[in-house]
Parts: sequence; C-alpha cells; structure tokens
Amino acid sequence: MTMPQDYNQPHIPVMLSEVTQYLNLQRDGVYLDGTVGAGGHATQILNHLSSHGRLIGLDRDAEALDICNDRFGASARPISTHQKSYHQFPEVIQELGVPEVNGILLDLGLSSMQLDSDMRGFAFESEGNLDMRFNGDTGKTASDLISQLSEKELTEIIFQYGEERHSRKIARSIKAMKSMTTVADLKEAIRRSTPPQQRHKSLARVFQALRIAVNGELDKLKSFLDSFVDYLSINGRVVIMSYHSLEDRMVKHTFRALKQAGKLNVLTKKPIIPSADEQAQNSRSRSAKLRAAERIA
Ligand SMILES: C[S@@+](CC[C@H](N)C(=O)[O-])C[C@H]1O[C@@H](n2cnc3c(N)ncnc32)[C@H](O)[C@@H]1O
Repeated sequence: MTMPQDYNQPHIPVMLSEVTQYLNLQRDGVYLDGTVGAGGHATQILNHLSSHGRLIGLDRDAEALDICNDRFGASARPISTHQKSYHQFPEVIQELGVPEVNGILLDLGLSSMQLDSDMRGFAFESEGNLDMRFNGDTGKTASDLISQLSEKELTEIIFQYGEERHSRKIARSIKAMKSMTTVADLKEAIRRSTPPQQRHKSLARVFQALRIAVNGELDKLKSFLDSFVDYLSINGRVVIMSYHSLEDRMVKHTFRALKQAGKLNVLTKKPIIPSADEQAQNSRSRSAKLRAAERIA
C-alpha cells in the first residue's frame, strides 16, 4: 500500500517497494544509485544495508546533492555522493577501488525540486529563465541552444525527442520570436503555433524535447547501457525507471540484446508501472516504467 503524499518531502520516490524488491538488496552489498536526487530511494536502500554495505550516489545536479547530503550527512550511513553523470560511473567506482557492484538503480527524469523551481526553467508551469541544465555549471542553456540551432535542426529535435507533430510550425514560431530567454517566451511561441485543444500536450512535449537536447540525455543513457553489465556482479541486479518512451525503448532493446548474448536474465517481461493507488497519490509517477534484469554470466 502506498503512503499518503508527504508535502515536506522534497521529492516522492516512485515505486519504492518495487525498486527494493527488484534490487534484491544484500545487507553487505555495494550499490550504485546513478540518479540519487534527494535520496528517497537511497534512504530505502540504506535501510537494508549493514555497516559493511555501501551505497554510491551520483547526480549531475549540485542542489540535489546538497539536499541528499543534508539528509545523510550527520548519520553514519555508508553512502558517498559524487557530482557525476551516471554514465561516468565506471570511473567513479574505479577511483573508489570498487571493481563491481551488486546492484544499479537509475531513476531517470526530473525531481519535484527541479520541476517546481522557478530558477531552472524545466516546467512550463514555472517562470524565469529558459535554462534546463541538470548541471548549471556546464553546457549550453536551452535559450543558448535555441539561438544556435537552425529552424530545421530545432524542428528535428522537437519531432524526435518530443514526438510532437506540430514540430515544424512550433520551430518556426520559436525562431520568429524577438526574444527567447524565458519560459514565458517559449510558451508564447508554442501558443502562437498550436491549436488550443492539444496545447497542454504540445507544451509538455516541447519542454521535454529541449531538456533532452540540452542535457544530451539519450547519449548518456546509450553510453551507460553499452557498458553497465561489465561492472555488475554475477546475480547483480539493474533497475531502470524511465519516464518517456524513447528511454524505455532503449532500455528494452538493450536488455533483450544482453539476454540473447546470455549475459542477462530479464526480470520484467513487460514494464512495471505504479499501482493505481500510487498514481492517484503522486501524479508525477504516472508515466514511470520500471524494467529490471539480473546478470547471469
Ligand atoms: C527522478 S530524480 C531522482 C529521484 C531520486 N530517486 C529520489 O528518490 O529522490 C532524477 C535525478 O536524476 C538526475 N540526473 C539527470 N540526468 C542525470 C545524469 N546523466 N547523471 C546523474 N544524474 C542525473 C537529476 O538531476 C535528478 O536529480
């Protein structure tokens, strides 16, 4: 049964019991939370670990790591956190002298802190600048990216990453705006180029597409999927939660290929989705799909 929504929690972890179950946590095991965020899933993982166990938490977002470190900083919990992208985990564990891990969790997508922040520009309901970077210290903002892209390139991004059929009209409208530096500017461009009935969906798709492009999200996921299995112990588990079909498809295809290569046993024939109860209590969980697999050779 799901707990009622706790508004004091910075982010409500999605499918907490399913994640725990599929990770098959061992008390002395070494685990990687590649998207540790505010540490919701990490708390649950740590609850299962002895003092000989270990949790390595990564996130690109320094603010998220601050919240996570505040949560665990004063305790003697066996966790270390690192501001790195999850696809860089092989170098992180190597530096820590860890050859392999017993389980890996990726909870892709955005945290509630990021969505709710007016400073980050992730959500069309927010205000402020069009930034969208997970790591605000590096890379181009969404506003910079838009100004550097041609209309054709922008159309491609909106179509490929947002699966938005009005991509051409929207890209033209965005490029025609005098200024494109705030969330309000982008919303106005989308308002001018989409029918009102479907606008909410168009807004969500365009914001998703730009966020994926700004952060190179699919390249990072591909890089992770190409290498993770070599760092997972035999009987080790990988659990990946994705929030849009492009990511879920990549996970599905990789698991299938690794199964055919005799390396993985896929534990989820179909993706697991949050219960109706959880979806009702946490609307942000609705698009989540969980896939899990176990290394067998
Ligand atoms: C849905 S939240 C994770 C929430 C976390 N599981 C919890 O329970 O608090 C996703 C997190 O992934 C982070 N993130 C996005 N891309 C990343 C990447 N390439 N590497 C590491 N973290 C990333 C985001 O900054 C965000 O904090």
